[in-house]
Amino acid sequence: MCGIVGAYVASGDVVPGLVQGLSVLEYRGYDSAGIAAVIDGELRVRKRRGRLSNLEEALEDGGLSGGLAGIGHTRWATHGVPSDVNSHPHQGASGRVAVVHNGIIENYALLKRELLEGGESFLSETDTEVLARLIDQTWAEEGTDQAALMRAMRRALGRVSGYYAIAVLATTDDGTCLLAMRQGPPLVVGTTEDGGFLSSDVLGLVPHTRQVVYLEDGDLAQLEPGRLTVTDAAGDVVERPSREVEWDPSDSGRGGYPHYMLKEIHEQPDVIERTCIDRIDLASGDVRFEGGAFDDAFCNSIERIQILGCGTALHAGQIARYLIEGLAGLPVEFDFASEFRYRSPRVAPGTVALAITQSGETADTLGATRLARELGARVASICNVAGSSQVRESEATILTHAGPEIGVASTKAFTAQLTAAVLLAVRIARSRGTMSEDEGRALLTELSELRPKVESLLTQESVARTRDAARTHAGARGFLFLGRGVNFPVALEGALKLKEIAYVHAEGYAAGEMKHGPIALIDPGMAVLVVNAEGPVAEKTRSNIEQVKARGGVTVSVGSDGASHAIADSYVPVPRTSEWLSPILNTIPLQLISYHIAEIHGCDIDKPRNLAKSVTVE
Ligand code: M6R
Repeated sequence: MCGIVGAYVASGDVVPGLVQGLSVLEYRGYDSAGIAAVIDGELRVRKRRGRLSNLEEALEDGGLSGGLAGIGHTRWATHGVPSDVNSHPHQGASGRVAVVHNGIIENYALLKRELLEGGESFLSETDTEVLARLIDQTWAEEGTDQAALMRAMRRALGRVSGYYAIAVLATTDDGTCLLAMRQGPPLVVGTTEDGGFLSSDVLGLVPHTRQVVYLEDGDLAQLEPGRLTVTDAAGDVVERPSREVEWDPSDSGRGGYPHYMLKEIHEQPDVIERTCIDRIDLASGDVRFEGGAFDDAFCNSIERIQILGCGTALHAGQIARYLIEGLAGLPVEFDFASEFRYRSPRVAPGTVALAITQSGETADTLGATRLARELGARVASICNVAGSSQVRESEATILTHAGPEIGVASTKAFTAQLTAAVLLAVRIARSRGTMSEDEGRALLTELSELRPKVESLLTQESVARTRDAARTHAGARGFLFLGRGVNFPVALEGALKLKEIAYVHAEGYAAGEMKHGPIALIDPGMAVLVVNAEGPVAEKTRSNIEQVKARGGVTVSVGSDGASHAIADSYVPVPRTSEWLSPILNTIPLQLISYHIAEIHGCDIDKPRNLAKSVTVE
C-alpha cells in the first residue's frame, strides 16, 4: 500500500535508480508516482497522476538529472483522489523538505486545522502534506542543520497518531540529508560504498545490495553513501541486525511472460517443491522444519489453533483448518484478521495464533496476532517474507519459498501456503500420535511426487483447455464457484481471483449451502464451476451439479472426479492425488480460467483497479 524508495549515491545520477526502484514497487499502488531530488543544493520535485510511465515522461525534461540524493513514491490513494497535486512527494513551506509516506495519519485533520490557524496553507487533500508541513515548521523552531531536522522529526512525529513509513529529503545548512522513520508499515535500508538506500520492501534494495536492515517501529535512520545511523524510539544509537536476502534481482522480472500473474502461475511446480522437499523426512514419515520449529514440545503444548489472515491467505487458512482438524485432531478456528479485533475473542489457554500471510506486513493480520498474544496466545506464522514484521513477531515460522510475488492477485504464494499447511498438519499429527509413520510417509511421498501433476496442469494443452473454458463463459452474467470439504475454500479462492482481476461478479459457496439460497440465482446466464475431487464428499457434490443442471444452469466440473465430468456441461480434468492435496492441484485451473477471462475483458491483470498488493493500513 504505497511504495517508497530513497537513495543517496556517492556519484552519478540518483534518479534512474529511484525510477527502477519504483518500477519494482509499483505493485504496492499505482495511482500516481513522484520523485524529489536535490540538484545543485535545490530540492526539486516531479510527480504525476497515474502509472509510473507518466512520471518517466515528466522526467524527460532533465530537470531532476544529476542529483545524488532523492526519494520516490508510488501511491495507493487513501486521502484525496489520484491527481498530480495529491501525488507525493509533498513539501513544507520552506521548500527545503520533501516527504514521501506509506500509511495513514489518523489525526491529520486536527493537525491540519492547527497548522491552518497558524497561517500554513495547503496544496493537496492528503494527510502526508500535513506531515511535511509539520516537520518543516518544527524544524524551523529547532534550527537549520541536520541534527535539528532529526530532533524536529521526532518532535513532529511524536504528535502524530497513525501508521507511517516515511522518507524525508532535505537541504540543510550542513548539506543534503536523507532520513527515514517507521511506525507500522515496513521499511528496509541498506548501504554500500556507493550509496545508502531505503525501500518499502527488499525488492527495491536487491539491485543495490543483498545485505539489508529492517527498521523497527520508532527507528529513525540517516542514510549516506557507506553509512547508516539508526536511533531508536528513545533516541539512542542502535545497531539493527543486517540480513542476507536470498531473492535475486531477476526474480522481480516478468521472465518473458506477458504478465507477472502468468509467470507466477507457471512457477508453481518449483515453488511447491521448494516449500516442501527439504522438510520431508520419508524415513520417519515426518516433517522437519528449520531450527527445530514446531518440535514435539511445541506441538504437544497446543490445545487449539486460531488461524488469522486476510483474502487469499485466509482461504489457505481455511484449508489448513480442514487439514489440522482432519489429520491432527486439534480444534481449529479461523477468522478474518480484520474482524478478530472487533469482536470479543476468547483465547483459551494453550492457543496458538497462526498467522498466514504472504507479505508478513498486512496491518490487519499483524494487529490480530498482536491482540491474540496480549490475550495469552503464542504466535506462529506461515509467511513468504523472511525478516518481515510477522516473522519477527512469531515464535515459530514456516517460510514459504514462493520468491517475490509481484502480481497483485496471489497465486504461487497461495499454493505455497497450502503446501506449508500440509507439512504443518503432518508435523502436528505425527507429534501428537494421530498419524502413524506409514500414514505420514504415504502422504509425504504423495506430496514430494506432486510436481509432475502440477506441471501437467501447465502444459500448453492444459492451459488451452482453461482458455477454452474462459472463452465459453466469459460472457456469463455471474459465476458461482462450489466446493465441499477441503475444496470449499478452493471455491472461495476461485471466486476471489475472478472478481479481483476480471471485475466479474463471482461467489464462492459451500456446495451443500447452495440449496439454502444461491440456487435461486441459477439460470442459463450463470456459470457454475464445481470443484470436486475423488473422495468421501465427491458423490454429494455430484448431486449439486445435477441440481444446477435441472434448473437450466451451466456447469463446469474442475477436479479429478471423472463422474462429475461425465454429467457437467464441460470439464477441466485434474490429476488424481490424495484428497488432502487436491486443493493444491484444483486451484491451478481456476487461476488460469480467471486469468484468461481477465485477458478477454482487456483488464489490467497485474494491476487490478483499486487494489494494492500489501495492505499495510487498516
Ligand atoms: O500479504 P498477505 O498474504 O497478508 O495479503 C493478504 C491479502 O491482502 C491478499 O491475499 C489478497 O487477498 C490478494 N490480493 C488476493 O489475490
